[in-house]
Order: sequence, then C-alpha cells, then structure tokens
Amino acid sequence: MSRIIVDRLVAGYGAVTVLRDISLEVGAGELVALLGVNGNGKSTLLNCILGFIRPRSGRIVLETQGRTVDLLTRSPHEITNLGIASVPEGRRLVPNLTVEENLLLAGGGPRGRKDIAANLAFCFETFPILAERRRQYSSTLSGGQQQLLAIARALMTSPEAIVIDEPSVGLAPIVVGQVIAAIRALQEARNLTILMAEQSFFQAIEVASRAYVLSHGKIIREFDQTSAVGDAEIRNAMMGVG
Ligand SMILES: Nc1ncnc2c1ncn2[C@@H]1O[C@H](COP(=O)(O)OP(=O)(O)OP(=O)(O)O)[C@@H](O)[C@H]1O
Ligand SMILES: [Mg+2]
Repeated sequence: MSRIIVDRLVAGYGAVTVLRDISLEVGAGELVALLGVNGNGKSTLLNCILGFIRPRSGRIVLETQGRTVDLLTRSPHEITNLGIASVPEGRRLVPNLTVEENLLLAGGGPRGRKDIAANLAFCFETFPILAERRRQYSSTLSGGQQQLLAIARALMTSPEAIVIDEPSVGLAPIVVGQVIAAIRALQEARNLTILMAEQSFFQAIEVASRAYVLSHGKIIREFDQTSAVGDAEIRNAMMGVG
C-alpha cells in the first residue's frame, strides 16, 4: 500500500512558473481526482511525481512498505520500480505492436518481470476485450480500447500506485463513463492508490473519494464525498470563477 504526499511544490519550464505551492495527498488505496481545465498544470504535476520534471522547490514523498522515499532524488525508472505506474496523456502505445506485445514490453522491467504471466492473465481477465484483441495491432483498437490497453500496460509493472493523465480525452461520453468505471473497479479489486487528472468532472467526482481543483497552478478547492456540492459549483471552481 502506497501513499503519495506532495508538499509545497513549485515547478515550471524555464522562466515560466506553472505550479505554485501545491500541497496534496493521495492516501493508500484512495482514488483521488485532479480536476482542471486545459493548461492548468495537471500534467506538469503528474510528471513531477513520475520524475520527468524536476520541481524548483517543495517535496514529493512516497510511503511504501513502511518506508518513506524522497521521490525528487529518484529517476523515472526508479520511481516505476518503487511501484508507481503511469498512464500517460495520449496513451502512447506502440502502434505497430499487438495488444499482447504492448503488455509484454511493459511487463519486462525489474518490478513486473517475475509476475509477467500472472499480470498478463489479470489484464485479460479484467479487460476481456483486450484478450479478444490480443493479436491485433494497438493502432487498430478503438479509442476506448486503447485507453484500457494503456491502463492494462500500467498494471504489467505490478504497481501499488497509478498516476493517470486524462483517460477520457477524445472518447465519446458513454465510453468515458465506461473507462472511468473500469478504473474504479480496478482500484477496488487491487486496492490501488490512484491519482487521476481529468476534465470530465461529472464522471470523475462520481468515482473519486476526493478531488482537488487545480486552477492557474494552484489548488483552489478540495472536495470529498461528504461535500454537498452541486455540479455547477464544481464546474465554476474548475473555471476559476467559484
Ligand atoms: N514542455 C513545456 N515547455 C514550456 N511550457 C510548457 C511545457 N509543457 C507545458 N507547458 C505549459 O505549462 C502550463 C501547464 O501545462 P500542463 O500540460 O501541465 O497543463 P494540463 O492541465 O495538463 O493541460 P491539458 O488539460 O491541456 O493537458 C501550460 O501553460 C503549458 O503551456
Ligand atoms: Mg495535460
């Protein structure tokens, strides 16, 4: 069971500051949504957690197996091996590999390797459509199927935590609901710690135990299941007018 703590994080690109003093926490086995419209720094924050962007200041800490690890001293590769998997923005599948080859490629790293057969079986059991399409090039899958494959690929690294960047992008509304429901089911089945960036706030808030709203690089609101908030209020908060 993993817990991720972000503390007073400041990050950006060159002279541009994108994240200003971000503090948040994803508890062990919790599904937390990071809500915000385009360009508010969701991917920047996820990429800081994954080690792809070095913040200017602040801390990111992972608690796992009774120890506390400073993620800012770790490479992306080491972070994967600590049990944090990524489902990146735009899915980034290998188009000319089959479904099964995409999964095996992801599962061959130091953390997933020993469980590769069991992980593959779990992915196919969890997402039967991927089993059915296992010999098909990933580029020939529908958008929703590709997103499920991107999620399954993360599972191949035997993660305790998964960082998911906008799984709903480019999908029809009904498919968005299916993909987000699949993420929720998976989180419950495996007791995963999940941080999910989303703009589809209706669906995200329904499955998340808590949600943070990011606007102009700051957390401007925090919701949990007990917050009696209407959808309009969440939307306004996301747009920075709440
Ligand atoms: N590599 C980069 N170099 C310079 N600026 C960047 C870079 N990547 C992102 N930015 C800027 O940082 C800000 C936040 O971008 P980010 O991608 O984190 O937002 P986002 O919330 O993920 O948006 P989206 O919903 O469109 O994916 C934007 O103003 C963007 O232009
Ligand atoms: Mg993004």
